[in-house]
Amino acid sequence: MIVTVGLNPAVDKTCRLKAMAQGEVNRLTSAVSVAGGKAVNVTKVLRQFHIPVAAVGFLGGAGGTLIREALEEMGAECYFTEIRGETRTNTNVLEENGRVTELLEPGPVISEKEMARFLKQFSGCLENAGLAVMSGSLPEGVPADVYAKLTELCHMAGCRVILDTSGEALRQGVQAGPDLVKPNRKELESLAGRPLESLEEIAGAARELFSWGVGGVAVSMGSRGLLWVDREKTIYQEAKPVRAVNTVGCGDTVAASLGMSLLNGDDMETAISKAAALAAANATTMENGKIPMETYLKLL
Ligand SMILES: Nc1ncnc2c1ncn2[C@@H]1O[C@H](COP(=O)(O)OP(=O)(O)OP(=O)(O)O)[C@@H](O)[C@H]1O
Ligand SMILES: [Mg+2]
Repeated sequence: MIVTVGLNPAVDKTCRLKAMAQGEVNRLTSAVSVAGGKAVNVTKVLRQFHIPVAAVGFLGGAGGTLIREALEEMGAECYFTEIRGETRTNTNVLEENGRVTELLEPGPVISEKEMARFLKQFSGCLENAGLAVMSGSLPEGVPADVYAKLTELCHMAGCRVILDTSGEALRQGVQAGPDLVKPNRKELESLAGRPLESLEEIAGAARELFSWGVGGVAVSMGSRGLLWVDREKTIYQEAKPVRAVNTVGCGDTVAASLGMSLLNGDDMETAISKAAALAAANATTMENGKIPMETYLKLL
């Protein structure tokens, strides 16, 4: 079983209208809400391969219910911590002329009590878990060292960890030595504190994480492909050639694929090749985390 950790999930709402008139009443022609956020994408990919998943994190309000129901429909077991605040909704307003307006909610504030309840629930999930995939940003109220703490709990329970986050949560998270980290190039640059252009520079910065006990680093570089470093080897995988229509969630797909490979015992060449094929297949559809299996197998 894989535990997917989503501390800051979001509902993605898409609203359409002819043209927006500022300061007026605007009638929408359609409004569609779907479960979003990185951990939801990871769960979605894993469930398409029928991997047992326990999804954890914080959920509250109507948005929380929507996300829980979507995950349950995918066949994931949900062990979320209910919060008093409301799970955020990110709204995209699309006008007929193609203009897009984004409205991002601040999201809930997690109380100390809710945080303590979550840690208890998380520990309970680790009994049957071989791997935890932790993705995304942190809501207000959650300390920046949370991924470090969760990694320690996992390792005490014999559960491996994949970490995919950014900023301070990443900086503090790597210090607990997760088994695998998946930064994109920007995230690694911000961690290293310097620009990284060449593959050598990128690999060098990734190797610096070994001193914290990180087992391996998969640096995703968008259409430049994927770079893997561990203590034994360095693997460069070109991006698989596809007509990309939406690359959002490609990194989440890589994290999910590497998770499956870790549990499978794939060698790293196979794991990286599968991850690149799966991410490229994800890029061929508008929906995040939706894998057209035929495309995936063909690319592989
Ligand atoms: N245009 C593309 N064509 C083929 N493969 C792609 C393309 N864009 C991305 N990929 C694949 O997906 C992987 C992950 O993409 P990327 O580096 O954009 O992740 P990311 O920035 O973490 O994305 P997100 O956080 O939105 O999931 C890349 O390493 C590459 O293998
Ligand atoms: Mg990413």
